[in-house]
Amino acid sequence: MMRKTNSTMTKKKMNATALAALLGAGFAAVSLPARAQPQSAPQTGVVFRNTVTGEQLDVSQGKEGGRDTPAVKKFFETGVNSYIDDKSCLRNGESLFATSCSGCHGHLAEGKLGPGLNDNYWTYPSNTQDTGLFSTIFGGANGMMGPHNENLTPDEMLQVISWIRHLYTGPVQDAVWLNDEQKKNYKPYKQGEVIPKDAQGQCKPLEE
Ligand code: HEC
Repeated sequence: MMRKTNSTMTKKKMNATALAALLGAGFAAVSLPARAQPQSAPQTGVVFRNTVTGEQLDVSQGKEGGRDTPAVKKFFETGVNSYIDDKSCLRNGESLFATSCSGCHGHLAEGKLGPGLNDNYWTYPSNTQDTGLFSTIFGGANGMMGPHNENLTPDEMLQVISWIRHLYTGPVQDAVWLNDEQKKNYKPYKQGEVIPKDAQGQCKPLEE
């Protein structure tokens, strides 16, 4: 009789311990991610998608470097391009645009083989956002508009974007890539305008 009771009690104890362990594990599994959430950054920031297919772009792919600058980190997190009116970046952007884009889009982005990029008409309205323009440069669009992630780093793309926005000659109210302050200070590009080679700012002169 005693033995039977004892063994029953032991069994009960074990069950209780096992249950507590299970519950504990359950609680840990549930509460850990919940606790980690507020600390982690809001997702990984901006999700970039191919302009034509909508497929997600992997911005770690392509030409090495130009991913750890403060401007790129901020852009990947918030979609804000901090080079937009920085003369040192415009100077570089002008040169990169001349090498990589102007052959098809024209010296002033007025359009040639490819469409004009300096007016308020866009085949893909996503290009009115700098994140959309970045995606088009990174992943390409149709036909002759191939991806440029093998010859430009993300940082260089931000410089090109700044230059394209600088060439804009359309109505300022349609320049949705500018904030209110930038719209107030907006001056349309004048042909022949020269940016000093030694302009100071966030962008170091490109290596020749
Ligand atoms: C070999 C020629 C060629 C080169 C080089 C080229 N493009 Fe294009 N681009 C095109 C063509 C053609 C289209 C039209 C494609 C389409 O409609 O899908 C286009 C489309 C675009 C668009 C979409 C415009 C809109 O109205 O929505 C953007 C933005 C763009 N290009 C930017 C660039 C930038 C920036 C560069 C340089 C990094 C570049 N392109 C280099 C030929 C080119």
